[in-house]
Amino acid sequence: MPHVVTQSCCGDASCVYACPVNCIHPTPDEPDFATSEMLYIDPTTCVDCGACVSACPVGAIVPSHRIPLGQERFADINALAYAAEGQLGLTDARFPVDPVQRLPLAPIEHPRALDFDEPVSVGIVGSGPSAMYAADDLLRHRSVSVTIYERLRRPFGLARYGVAPDHTRTRKVIDLFDDIARNPRVEILLDTEVGRDITLDDLRARHHAVIWAGGAPTDRRLEIENIDAPGVGSATSFVGWYNGHPDFASLDPDLSHRSAVVVGNGNVALDVARILVGGAQRLAKTSIAPRALAALESSSIEQVTVLGRRGPEHAAFTLPELVGLADNGVRVVTDPADFTDVPFDDLDAVARAKLELLAELATDEPVSGRHIRLAFHHTPQAVSVDGFGAADGLVVTNTGGTHTTTLPAGLILTSVGYRGRPVPGLPFDAARGVIPHDQGRVVDEGRRVPGMYVTGWIKRGPSGFIGTNKTDSGETVASLLADLEAGLLPRPSHQQTRGSRATLVRAGR
Ligand SMILES: Cc1cc2nc3c(=O)[nH]c(=O)nc-3n(C[C@H](O)[C@H](O)[C@H](O)COP(=O)(O)OP(=O)(O)OC[C@H]3O[C@@H](n4cnc5c(N)ncnc54)[C@H](O)[C@@H]3O)c2cc1C
Ligand SMILES: NC(=O)c1ccc[n+]([C@@H]2O[C@H](COP(=O)([O-])OP(=O)(O)OC[C@H]3O[C@@H](n4cnc5c(N)ncnc54)[C@H](OP(=O)(O)O)[C@@H]3O)[C@@H](O)[C@H]2O)c1
Ligand code: SF4
Ligand code: SF4
Repeated sequence: MPHVVTQSCCGDASCVYACPVNCIHPTPDEPDFATSEMLYIDPTTCVDCGACVSACPVGAIVPSHRIPLGQERFADINALAYAAEGQLGLTDARFPVDPVQRLPLAPIEHPRALDFDEPVSVGIVGSGPSAMYAADDLLRHRSVSVTIYERLRRPFGLARYGVAPDHTRTRKVIDLFDDIARNPRVEILLDTEVGRDITLDDLRARHHAVIWAGGAPTDRRLEIENIDAPGVGSATSFVGWYNGHPDFASLDPDLSHRSAVVVGNGNVALDVARILVGGAQRLAKTSIAPRALAALESSSIEQVTVLGRRGPEHAAFTLPELVGLADNGVRVVTDPADFTDVPFDDLDAVARAKLELLAELATDEPVSGRHIRLAFHHTPQAVSVDGFGAADGLVVTNTGGTHTTTLPAGLILTSVGYRGRPVPGLPFDAARGVIPHDQGRVVDEGRRVPGMYVTGWIKRGPSGFIGTNKTDSGETVASLLADLEAGLLPRPSHQQTRGSRATLVRAGR
């Protein structure tokens, strides 16, 4: 009975290095790693030793005889990734079985512990996943200490304020970050915004190097008519509201209508739709903000349309999240017409499994009760408004623009991606919303900015899972340490006196 990777996999690859028989793929050095939706265990090679289970920070790996209810499909999904031609009805696979390749990996290569002549101090701006993975990497070196500056009163960024409250396994990653933060060589200064409470120049004077890990906190704006009408909002603020983010505590979305539309069909759109109609009762024992729970308990919303502008084969949500939605008590439907012209055969096994599940959900019947409709091939054109100027629908055209229709909706949430903000004093690529860099070293018009580094969403743009930030931060920290060894980092002119970790404890993590 092999082990199986399930929905909450966040792609940090910790299991890969724990496995004695190298049966978890893609590994970080394989080309598919950067784009893979999760990692998969090869059922024919797994020897069931369980080593990966303890390595996984989010409890995503289970023995196949103990797969939780609603996650059963993951046994097939893991196998699909390795299925050879002819097996499981497939013609291709991502990782065709090749026993010669299945030799144990070389033991994980820990970076050589560097011991510098004098203590080295690194400042990190932000305490989200990218910051915490960077801190963890740096702390492998005895003479390095880290100060983390976080603008909010509670740390860990989107791991706390983004991940949905009902993703309880994924939220366990907070425990891992908590362990990292408890290292005596880490100090976290909460409620300390760089640029408001302390300047970037202050940081550069205090530390040998500064890593900017501030994330991509704003949402991309949908430029259509009446987008600012009452009743229209962004997924960014709605997510912040249900997760208790202090910036969105007073949002008070209007849930008195029957229908809502979410524009965009990434994983954030699925989170938002599920929270809206997944039933307040199952959220009661989660970390959801009490105010949001109360509002959802009296919500009238029955139908949420999740709107994709392209076809189902281009849906931005991932298969694990679709399975998590469709197999866990939420009614999800699609339109059969969206599957007539889909090129099933051109897709790899996992992409095809996603499409097949979407086609399984198709129905022509009218649907009543709480449900989510995954709609495709429709582009938003304008928000339609009632006599008081409030949103009452979304005007959409089909692909090709031959047909316009209005989807009735009293609540419209745009979920079209996040965006980084410029940081005063640092270069900014306005087109991509990122800080330009070379392997994590901040560069300004091709020239390196001494002592400045970048990691996470503000480095590579707003995509990827929590674990994706681990490899990303690894690259940045490797550059920083190489510069330190090469004597390229300026000595801090104003070495700080280390404060007390009480700041962190007081803030009630
Ligand atoms: C709604 C949502 C749900 C998600 N759910 C999942 C999931 O279920 N599973 C998964 O694997 N991935 C999920 N992700 C993706 C994951 O959250 C991101 O990959 C990850 O959080 C990015 O990390 P980061 O450190 O770059 O940014 P962030 O997590 O945004 O952290 C940035 C931190 O910097 C702080 N900061 C910003 N500016 C300053 C400043 N000037 N001074 C001090 N502090 C500052 C912010 O307050 C924040 O704490 C989700 C993302 C979103 C948006
Ligand atoms: N459980 C999880 O693992 C989890 C949960 C949440 C988020 N995340 C990750 O966090 C990252 C961000 O997620 P996200 O959902 O914000 O972003 P995303 O995956 O990039 O999805 C953005 C969506 O917006 C659409 N869009 C963009 N511009 C549009 C426009 N002008 N009109 C209509 N639609 C438009 C895109 O359509 P096109 O594809 O056509 O451009 C896409 O469907 C992703 O990598 C995601 O996987 C993971
Ligand atoms: S149970 Fe053992 S052999 Fe199987 S994937 Fe996990 S670590 Fe590898
Ligand atoms: S979260 Fe990390 S350790 Fe767990 S299954 Fe996914 S890649 Fe492996």
